[in-house]
Amino acid sequence: MKLNIKNFQFTITKSDRELLTNHKSHLLWLTGLSGSGKSTLANLVEIELNKRNILTYIIDGDNIRQGINSDLNFEIQDRVENIRRISELSKLLVDAGIFVIACFISPFSKDRLAVKNKLGQENFSEIYINASIESCEIRDVKGLYKKARKGEIKNFTGISSPYETPINPDLEIKTDRLPIKKCSELIINFITSNILK
Ligand code: ADX
Repeated sequence: MKLNIKNFQFTITKSDRELLTNHKSHLLWLTGLSGSGKSTLANLVEIELNKRNILTYIIDGDNIRQGINSDLNFEIQDRVENIRRISELSKLLVDAGIFVIACFISPFSKDRLAVKNKLGQENFSEIYINASIESCEIRDVKGLYKKARKGEIKNFTGISSPYETPINPDLEIKTDRLPIKKCSELIINFITSNILK
């Protein structure tokens, strides 16, 4: 449906908005298994950034899937479409001057790479929230692993649907080895020394 559509080049750009906020906008992409700690960490990181007057916004799989992506399920093609739409949404938010933190399992390398390419390398950082499937299953905060093992949930990541481990993430955080406070400090350090420098 690209017929008869022409881009309008608006005068005020991302750089103008970054001058207003006084910081760079960016997409911090947290990928990892369900229950690995993505949302908990995003929350802690956002609290810290908010204290430092950074304009932030979190987009999170569980929340987004109750709104704009409520028509999507967990078949492979649904997950691909989930991440494709999120890449478009993130691009708009980053263009709006916001420091975006995205928490999605995003199990496929190809889709994560597509987000990076859409945003441009300088606007995107991938953080691998690494917790073993065993540790996620033991904690089972939402009770979903138990259901997946009983066959009550189909296509569950790590059990009956694959997760492709990031090969070369910008940062890896082992949430099953370190206290959560330490994990969030590592992310804040990464942000201050690599993004908001
Ligand atoms: S993604 O694979 O498409 O990136 P997304 O991050 O949006 O997934 O949503 C993952 C969340 O949905 C999980 O944290 C979990 O709470 C819930 N969920 C429900 N069913 C599944 C499933 N089959 N596999 C993984 N997560 C599921």
